[in-house]
Amino acid sequence: MGVDLGLPHFDSELEELGQLAETAGMQPVARVTAKRRAPDAALFVGRGKADEIKALAEETGATEILFDQSLSPAQQRNLEKHLELPVNDRTLLILEIFAQRARSHEGKLQVELARLQYLSTRLVRRWSHLERQRGGIGSRGGPGETQIELDRRMIGEAIKRTRERLEKVKRQRQTQRRQRERRESFKVSLVGYTNAGKTTLFNALVKARAYAADQLFATLDTTTRELYLQAAGRSISLSDTVGFIRDLPHTLIDAFEATLQEAADADLLLHVVDVANPHHLEQIGEVERVLEEIGAAGVPRLLVFNKIDALAPGRQPRNASDTFELDGVQVPRLFVSARAGLGLDVLRGKLAEAAARERPLLPA
Ligand code: GTP
Repeated sequence: MGVDLGLPHFDSELEELGQLAETAGMQPVARVTAKRRAPDAALFVGRGKADEIKALAEETGATEILFDQSLSPAQQRNLEKHLELPVNDRTLLILEIFAQRARSHEGKLQVELARLQYLSTRLVRRWSHLERQRGGIGSRGGPGETQIELDRRMIGEAIKRTRERLEKVKRQRQTQRRQRERRESFKVSLVGYTNAGKTTLFNALVKARAYAADQLFATLDTTTRELYLQAAGRSISLSDTVGFIRDLPHTLIDAFEATLQEAADADLLLHVVDVANPHHLEQIGEVERVLEEIGAAGVPRLLVFNKIDALAPGRQPRNASDTFELDGVQVPRLFVSARAGLGLDVLRGKLAEAAARERPLLPA
């Protein structure tokens, strides 16, 4: 369900929401859009539209309704009552995907923190694992404590515990990072909108076998490998990071700070763009916005327009490299196909140049 409130980025086809739902293991059965000047305070959509959704859900056998826009806790509750089905929004869907994807201990903790923070703003008990933790924590509440207070206390304590565990992991990570830095490595981070092809490019460059899938957020944890560049006569360290997405929930940016920090600490960012996606220019804007938010605005960029193999012959770039205006600055741009292995030599050459320029090798 998408509601056009006249804001930019309204996705009239609900294409990305559908992709997100599939990534979470669901199967979209119908898409509904509506136009409103302002959201309805109670139901987000009007009552008529809500009835229409209900009828369509019955007809198609839908088991859940997803909204592309953020719902207030009250709207979500009212809609669930009205539609007699679970109702979720994009933020919750993204959180759910992140929860399914997190592999490393740190990744799992970060997702857990994000979910708890989201929950604390809602206080709708939705997750069974929290229910399971109830007994012990709830029993500390004094007599007369209301359900909401109990829930709030329970979530507050869970947030505190998760933060502490995350702090510990973060300290270990910093030690590892310091060890890497001592080796004076030139650090390059891959960033880009989800599904741009970062992992495929990472694999093509370092010949590793990280998991690349046509799903959003296949990668959640940062993977770092050393990459030897013959032309520079030295190694650089290359990191694959989590994919960015528009309206990345704030709780996620907060929780994934450690992972995203990797990008802010880099000497060079390879901003990977899916040039075959019709929305790639907007996606560039979204990624740049998150980069600014995490304090990476000043890190030098190399734009890597990927998937040129998927472009029609008439849309093929004329040159392998040129420049592209990013916020009024001309940024070097390369055209590659990570999958077909096109343009990778030019990319390696640029990396070698940047590594040599940034930190000239001291005579031994
Ligand atoms: P997230 O982990 O979601 O951020 O994705 P990612 O940016 O790491 O993308 P990934 O490498 O997982 O690739 C996403 C999809 O695009 C996969 O199906 C890849 O096979 C495909 N892909 C990657 N590079 C290319 C390319 O050069 N050409 C084409 N046609 N497809 C590509």
